[in-house]
Amino acid sequence: MDPVIPSPDVIPVHWLWFQVLLVVTFILHLILMNLILGGSLLALWDKISGKKEPGYAVTLPVLVALTINLGVPPLLFVQVLYGHLFYTASVTQAVPWILVIPALILGYYGSYIYVRKRDKSPQLATTGLVVSLLLILYTGFMLVNNSTLTLVPSRFEAHLNNPGGMNLNIGEPSLWPRYLHFITSAVAIAALGVAIYAKFTLKDNPEQSSAVIRTNLRRFAWFTLVQFAFGTLFWLSTPREVWMIFMGKNITATILMTLSWLLAASMIYTAFRGKLGITILHAFIVLVIMVIMREYMRSAYLKDIFSPSQLESKGEFWPLIVFLVLFIAGLGAIYYMIRLATKKISQS
Ligand code: HEM
Repeated sequence: MDPVIPSPDVIPVHWLWFQVLLVVTFILHLILMNLILGGSLLALWDKISGKKEPGYAVTLPVLVALTINLGVPPLLFVQVLYGHLFYTASVTQAVPWILVIPALILGYYGSYIYVRKRDKSPQLATTGLVVSLLLILYTGFMLVNNSTLTLVPSRFEAHLNNPGGMNLNIGEPSLWPRYLHFITSAVAIAALGVAIYAKFTLKDNPEQSSAVIRTNLRRFAWFTLVQFAFGTLFWLSTPREVWMIFMGKNITATILMTLSWLLAASMIYTAFRGKLGITILHAFIVLVIMVIMREYMRSAYLKDIFSPSQLESKGEFWPLIVFLVLFIAGLGAIYYMIRLATKKISQS
């Protein structure tokens, strides 16, 4: 093995367990991060264009906390499967990477300032929102940097020549398209989130509720249309042997890609028609397919270097069982908390 890449550890159970858990928990993280990143962008847009924001911004601080918490489980699983690559990439860009922690703390604080000061001090509130948004954008940028560097271990050598921990993956051709793809999808999913929020919290005002739902479904549809361009740009900015897996080289990946295009087209139609339920269903399925395609893409990048199927397992099931029990209990507690919060908001 390449001397710059450390050897992977032995894992407790078969790698497929961790692969499934990585996909499931990453979907949760992705939905929440879309809601905060896209939700902050929409709140700022509403503010700049002088529109009355339908109240969803009160959820931002809670969503920031949940995004951070639900970033931990995929971090655990990516670490189990790809830890030797993921952490070497992190060390290579250690300085901007570690700055994500203070950025998130300040970003979280900024979202609180926005929510608490909206009525009393609008200027301070807007500053809080802008600062929070910039720091969240920075965090997303660093995660894309780290994820893309993980895929090209030959670049870890940059660390040997320049060990100061400043080796961002800026030269990577897919970096900006990938980042744009995430930002655009964040706005689309957040618009869908605002529509869902209006459905549950504006029950007493059906006219306002359906106006907010219609506007946000239209926003969702437009951003998804833009996504066709950014998604294609991202896809074609990857190396030929990677994008070709979606063009017939790998049959499952090709089917997934075709399905995602068809579903996205149908989703745009249902969103423009103002159909909330069916659009949510489409969006969820497309999101799941995208996350699975991301895993196919990762294994295509690393094909000649590493596959988690090479990992040796010890057959120790207890840690996994304990994790699953606590994880399900945790999700149940979050669900209960959200139900209590939405009840309180709709009563106020
Ligand atoms: C709140 C701000 C955050 C934003 C905007 C954000 C955004 C993102 C984005 C855009 C990706 C995809 C990167 C890519 O595939 O290129 C990602 C992946 C990921 N994020 Fe977050 N994230 C945030 C916070 C966190 C935190 C606090 C953690 C850990 C505690 C975390 C853990 C992860 C993990 C493990 C991945 C997957 C890495 C992989 O599969 O290679 N995120 N995040």
